[in-house]
Amino acid sequence: MTTATTPQTDPFALARALSGRHFYDGALRESASGRTFPVVNPATGEEVGAAAFGEAADVEAAVRAAAAAQKGWAKVGARDRGKLVARCGQLLSEHVEELARLIALETGKALRTESRVEASVLADAFTFFAGLGSELKGETVPYSPTVMTMTVREPIGVVGAILPWNVPLLLMALKIAPALVAGNTVVVKSAEEAPLAVLRVIELMGGILPPGVVNILSGFGPECGAPLVAHPKVGKVTFTGSVETGKIVYRTAAEKLIPVTLELGGKSPMIVMADADMDQAIAGAIAGMRFTRQGQSCTAASRIFVHDAVHDEFVARLKAKVDAMRMGDPLDEATDIGTIVSHQQMERVQGYIAIGKETDGAVAHVCSALPTDPRLAKGLFIQPHIFTGVTNDSRIAREEIFGPVCCVIRWTDYEEVIAAANDSEYGLAATVWTRDLKLALDAVNRLEAGFVQVNQNLVVQPNLSYGGVKASGLGKEASLESMLEHFTHKKTIMINMK
Ligand code: NAI
Ligand code: MG
Repeated sequence: MTTATTPQTDPFALARALSGRHFYDGALRESASGRTFPVVNPATGEEVGAAAFGEAADVEAAVRAAAAAQKGWAKVGARDRGKLVARCGQLLSEHVEELARLIALETGKALRTESRVEASVLADAFTFFAGLGSELKGETVPYSPTVMTMTVREPIGVVGAILPWNVPLLLMALKIAPALVAGNTVVVKSAEEAPLAVLRVIELMGGILPPGVVNILSGFGPECGAPLVAHPKVGKVTFTGSVETGKIVYRTAAEKLIPVTLELGGKSPMIVMADADMDQAIAGAIAGMRFTRQGQSCTAASRIFVHDAVHDEFVARLKAKVDAMRMGDPLDEATDIGTIVSHQQMERVQGYIAIGKETDGAVAHVCSALPTDPRLAKGLFIQPHIFTGVTNDSRIAREEIFGPVCCVIRWTDYEEVIAAANDSEYGLAATVWTRDLKLALDAVNRLEAGFVQVNQNLVVQPNLSYGGVKASGLGKEASLESMLEHFTHKKTIMINMK
């Protein structure tokens, strides 16, 4: 069974057509058990489709297909692999609207501000890595005039890629595009909350790539993710998700002695100096906190340290801007802020809001307005909360909330604010806002984070290494180096000519 390869812009029809299927060995396939689980529109609570419930038997079949395809795929020239991946990028660029609507339907991310943006950068990520085939080069080493010594880059084999639900299309692309160009085959495990748009991408790619080169399973962590990581033929795992699950993946990989890349959580600081351009800093806080995505971002700028001299003005203007954002149906073009992804996530975020309200000295500034449309009465909407009056020691400033909740923390002493920014278990991203370049340089050198920016708050960009330090993860993604370091191994070859 396949769905049409022309773009299907009715997401409800496409969700039904993709229901109950994995994609492996070149075709859409049901689970061995025939089981499925519901896909729910978080804006209405309606069941819009079903996903195949993957288990060990499905993992076995998909990994077997990937392993069988890998030797042949590695023999395709590196630039030719790149050309096929470029064709995938081209095809996906023709499906932006379709994918945007489908991801909005299953995750509740607003179409205009989030889902369409994600679907557009998806194609760009494939196009970027597609051009890097000839960069898979080795070196010659001047060991001795009579011993020709060189290195070559070889693929690892079968890569297991485990996805989260918050940015599934882009994060999948950043994992599988470099893995494929480097000569690996992949088995993806989608997040249980967002199985369909990524399935559609793999189905479309499967029309271009040989059978078994790209494969995807849907299912839950213990039943489907765990056997994928543990499978003896999976030689590398790349994971994005929670710290807790990242540790489980790492432990299993350790038993097999295979490499892993882990992109985990964050509690990213934003430091606003007294001389900062206020308009720029407030726009940066809104973009950084991903309010349009209900704050469901690992890089969310959720600890905003604002200098005492501008603190009150900053909070008032930030609140006014967030108040002006419209919460509503994710598929409506007028909507700025969509929904939370699931009931589980909603309860978690509400739990943190309650903790925040009970924190000594805390003031909750509740922003925007819940939608009034009765069709959305069961929608998973949470009003953005800006907490002031809290310190960096409070639970809401220390723990990742993954929702539209941030802390604005007042500061006066520069040394103290740098220490507070670094006083976190995480180290994913950080930003500094000032006109003083000397101070900015001092701060960027001292901040403990994988990605530090001054006077801007961009998201992942192709060819900029992305990844955290401390509990935020291991290894980098998105760059040429990430392809070389994480999806190949280096073989040393010596030829004695004496
Ligand atoms: P999770 O880390 O449990 O799930 C991420 C992926 O791992 C999913 O595909 C899941 O099925 C899979 N998984 C779960 N258990 C597994 C296992 N034992 N072996 C292999 N794979 C397994 O995250 P979840 O439950 O979706 O969200 C919990 C919290 O994690 C969120 O509230 C948020 O704080 C954080 N999170 C962080 C993300 C990031 O971008 N760094 C993305 C998603 C969640
Ligand atoms: Mg979980």
